[in-house]
Amino acid sequence: QTHSDVRKPRRAPLTVAHRGASGYAPENTLAAVDKAHELGIDWVENDVQRTKDGELVVIHDTTLSRTTDVEDRFPDRSPWKVSDFTLKEIKTLDAGSWFGSQFKGEKIPTLREYLDRLTRNGQDLLLELKSPELYPGIERETLGQLRREGWLDRLHTGSRLIVQSFNKAAVQKVHQQQPEVKTGFLGTPKTGDLKEYAKFTDQINPTYTDATKDYVSAVHALKGPHKKPLEVFTWTVNDAETARKVADAGVDGIISNKPDVVSDAVQTS
Ligand code: G3P
Ligand code: CA
Repeated sequence: QTHSDVRKPRRAPLTVAHRGASGYAPENTLAAVDKAHELGIDWVENDVQRTKDGELVVIHDTTLSRTTDVEDRFPDRSPWKVSDFTLKEIKTLDAGSWFGSQFKGEKIPTLREYLDRLTRNGQDLLLELKSPELYPGIERETLGQLRREGWLDRLHTGSRLIVQSFNKAAVQKVHQQQPEVKTGFLGTPKTGDLKEYAKFTDQINPTYTDATKDYVSAVHALKGPHKKPLEVFTWTVNDAETARKVADAGVDGIISNKPDVVSDAVQTS
């Protein structure tokens, strides 16, 4: 065996509960945060948007229809956009029953309530700015909320918070406005373009079919704005076989609706 054959042992990738442990509890609710905690999962992913009256709330779709009873409660408010409802109206909605009757009465959380629960549980956050093009200024508002809740101190910016988006301009804004915050770009830029992304993002987060050994190596070869190698968190992996495959490709994190399945698979592989 030559020296170059001796590989550094690689750490198992981090497991991130996608929209909370959304395979077992209604996505983006406090119940899904708690479920992840119960499963021993420290990292949670969520999606942040804004209400009509400017409150930051945690929900994935840009409309309320799929995950709440909004169509029954407000039948004349089609197309039921998040941005057309006040927080007070949103708080009347049931965001749990669609997933299972045991979750009846679960509410759409504000970002503040969500951060509180993570803090109480000792969990970390991969925060996604969802469709920020619909919410001008949401980058600054989100950073403001994070600051007020104590999430921009050294401990959090160092290792407990990542802000990501599919929207490149939003990721650039977060980096410019709060350079110490770790950022992620969701997508698979061409390898020739990665150098440009490395100026403002610490992570490149592709869908799992794009998380090949070659692509992951190309990302790892670059250093991000915090002078550390760029990382790769991939999504959304819900079975052991795929989890082992992307772990083998060298990803740093795996985002999953069933984080217990992924975590078990990568620890034992
Ligand atoms: O965190 C990655 C993943 O959440 C991106 O896709 O549609 O589930 O927000 P989506
Ligand atoms: Ca998301």
